[in-house]
Amino acid sequence: MFYYPLARHFLFKLDPEVAHELSIHQLAWMGGTPFELFFRNKLPSRPVEVMGLKFDNPVGLAAGLDKDGDAIDAFGAMGFGFIEVGTVTPRPQPGNDKPRIFRVIPAQGIINRMGFNNKGVDNLIENVKKSRYKGILGINIGKNKDTPIENGKDDYLICMDKVYPYAGYIAVNISSPNTPNLRQLQYGEALDELLKVLKERQKELAEQHKKYVPLAVKIAPDLTSDELKQVAESLLKYNIDGVIATNTTLDRELIHDMPHAAETGGLSGRPLQNKSTEIIRQLHEYLKGQIPIIGVGGIDSAMAAREKMQAGAELVQIYSGFIYHGPDLVKNIVNNI
Ligand code: FNR
Repeated sequence: MFYYPLARHFLFKLDPEVAHELSIHQLAWMGGTPFELFFRNKLPSRPVEVMGLKFDNPVGLAAGLDKDGDAIDAFGAMGFGFIEVGTVTPRPQPGNDKPRIFRVIPAQGIINRMGFNNKGVDNLIENVKKSRYKGILGINIGKNKDTPIENGKDDYLICMDKVYPYAGYIAVNISSPNTPNLRQLQYGEALDELLKVLKERQKELAEQHKKYVPLAVKIAPDLTSDELKQVAESLLKYNIDGVIATNTTLDRELIHDMPHAAETGGLSGRPLQNKSTEIIRQLHEYLKGQIPIIGVGGIDSAMAAREKMQAGAELVQIYSGFIYHGPDLVKNIVNNI
């Protein structure tokens, strides 16, 4: 599409968060109007069935880009096979101080320490109700910063109860590096305890709503092999429906001499690509196909998407690649996967 390189030229002159807000705002009002032609993709159907759900194609929008679900219809028009909104928390919260997003342009990377800025789960639900999107909508949930980590599971349960009727699947985010201590939920007893209560609640909600909504857990790329093995064992033990691998990394090895490398936060995009693929490969070995993997991290081409799938992912998601390449990336991947 001729439009995005031009748009990017102007957007990249702006502060990254201003560019983001402006874009979401524009997309929100253009979605569902004739102006959709600027970003609409007409794509062939590449249906896949994963977690018991039928996806029109395996390419999704990763969490964090449309945190509050403001522009769901616009992203739908771009041809995504699924859209993951959130992370949302029970109560609205401002997130960390600005600036909190940085472009690492030479590496086509992004560093962010947003800290779950969002307008809260109720606002998200209102937006979901308004949207006309017919594809699979994932809703990614987290905990408020001021909820002590010991009570973290209460926040996930509050969000789960509320989003359950509206979600195609629910993504449980325990891997953001930007909420203090959140990643502790990925380990040992804390993980087991969380998965146990979420799974129990899922059963109750399924009966109540006469609808089974799969639960997917989103993990970090910074787990050691042993830690990853333990995570896999817990996911298997509690029959979790899917795993999203991966979130952003704390590792700066590949960009240490580049602009903004010293900023605190999670790194995404090209420098994360191989690391997340390796996690997927190992996870696939441990899970042996018993739990589907949604692969995310540095996908910036159809080849990169294929690598994720060859490593064991059944679906893929994009965020940073979308910022650098625009809606054409969705088309390129779907056409060539
Ligand atoms: C993210 N990501 C993210 N993930 C998540 O589960 N909840 C969130 O709220 C956010 N927020 C967020 C903000 C920004 C600015 C970025 C760049 C990323 C992580 C994202 O969904 C994805 O897992 C990683 O970015 C890796 O994929 P890419 O960006 O390399 O394609």
